[in-house]
Amino acid sequence: MYNPSDWWKRAVIYQVYPRSFCDSNGDGIGDIPGIISKLDYLETLGVDAIWLSPVCRSPQVDNGYDVSDYRDIDPMFGTLEDMDRLIREAGARGIRILLDLVLNHTSNEHPWFLAASESRSDPYHEYYIWRDPLPGETPGDAAGFGSGSWQWVPAVGQYYYYQFSVWQPDLNWANPAVRQALYDMINWWADRGVGGFRLDVVDHLGKDPSLGVKVNGPRLHEYVREMSAACFQRPGLVTVGEAWSATPEIAKRYSDPDGSELSMVFQFEHILLDQAPGGSKWDLAPLPLKAFKQVMDRWQTELRGCGWNSLFYENHDLPRIVSRWGDDGEFREQSAQMLAILLFGMEGTPYIYEGQELGMTNMRLDLDEYQDIETRGMIDARRAEGYDDADILRSARAKSRDNARTPMQWNDAEHAGFTTGTPWLRVNENYREINAARQVGVSGSVFECYRALIRLRKAYPVFTEGAFSLLLPEDDDLFAYTRTTADETLLVVCNFRGRELPDPLAETEAGMTLLIGNYPDAQTTLRPYEARMYRKGEV
Ligand code: GLC
Ligand code: CA
Repeated sequence: MYNPSDWWKRAVIYQVYPRSFCDSNGDGIGDIPGIISKLDYLETLGVDAIWLSPVCRSPQVDNGYDVSDYRDIDPMFGTLEDMDRLIREAGARGIRILLDLVLNHTSNEHPWFLAASESRSDPYHEYYIWRDPLPGETPGDAAGFGSGSWQWVPAVGQYYYYQFSVWQPDLNWANPAVRQALYDMINWWADRGVGGFRLDVVDHLGKDPSLGVKVNGPRLHEYVREMSAACFQRPGLVTVGEAWSATPEIAKRYSDPDGSELSMVFQFEHILLDQAPGGSKWDLAPLPLKAFKQVMDRWQTELRGCGWNSLFYENHDLPRIVSRWGDDGEFREQSAQMLAILLFGMEGTPYIYEGQELGMTNMRLDLDEYQDIETRGMIDARRAEGYDDADILRSARAKSRDNARTPMQWNDAEHAGFTTGTPWLRVNENYREINAARQVGVSGSVFECYRALIRLRKAYPVFTEGAFSLLLPEDDDLFAYTRTTADETLLVVCNFRGRELPDPLAETEAGMTLLIGNYPDAQTTLRPYEARMYRKGEV
């Protein structure tokens, strides 16, 4: 059953976006000493590990997802000594540090790429993916972020392949020297004491642009297994891959309990539900609740015993969940807690993105204020296609990655206590109302709800081991399920609507103990966004 080196099955992982978490030196950008100064806060919350978005040296074209030196810290975030201190001080509080590994591509300023684009005979040339011009082809380029394209390099008379931006050339994973160099780097970090890794766009590693295959390429799992054997077999190391293209079948391979690949992956099937069919994330649609229930049910059921789920709504690429699937107005606190209770009752490892535990909301920026490379690309492309600005703004405000990247709201001081300088991205105006100082230790707050859920997950084995069963699959407004082991039952009932509804499960609830809810008093109906979690079993 539960193996102690699988500590991450009982754990909760917290994602820090270093640039936006806490600034220690007044330059307006969060940094590692800033993170260290907030470790007590994270210990109070009760998280077991911190996933740090990239802190390695980088020109910051994609906020660090463009690495120019994998073995150094970007001066903007601090030094290697700061990193060692973070690992040590977090460790002293029982918190592990997970590094974000960007292995699909480097920055175009990485010394490997500089050498590669100087001459075809340089050994580093083969570190990247090149093609010759086709007969009669005029060297072109230009594609949107994430769509993949080729860029011409006159010095070598060839094009290189990039999946994301032109400043992020893709590494050639078919070259064993590339893989070995990356494995050496990963082991170098593991030797420094990091507790695990998040693997950026892992599903792209086996790509074969010559075949037009971008994700789930023919050699993907061979590479992941090789990397795992070379780097991930240290006891207790946790690994999570970002895999937008994963199906449950594929996720079972990645997270095979034999440990030959990764601990788990982030899958995004639920995240892709609120967009127009055939459109992109910018083509907005409401969340279809029944489809959401089906998707979660399928992942819970299909991975059971033969894989492991990650549980998340937010990260640095996604909007704030309370604005997205809850109500960030009148019922902000209730809906933020309802969404938390819903997720934390499921099987898998929950992730909290910084500020989610406060119910932080989306940001109302103006079009010229967006900084994110993906959003800027969308704005340019849609303007060129003739969309009007009001439409574009609606999409950006709903889905831009900058929604999650506004500074963390610590208190009601200027700039929410994030910096004494000028923040790199504007602080959300609502920081006087929504901030950590107003929530820590305050019963009924979103923070205290997350904190209680983390404690509950550690207290009862049913959270780790219970079998999931969806209730009321046809109900348009409620999301309810049970988790069961031989000795325990958990029941979670959530109202997804901003109106009071009858509770069809009242009788079942009557024989159980309320573990946590998001209203202070008990009632038989389900009030707006009400969530209740019950348990029955040995004490
Ligand atoms: C991942 C990251 C995202 C980044 C992209 C390219 O999706 O989460 O922030 O832009 O990979 O590295
Ligand atoms: Ca700083």
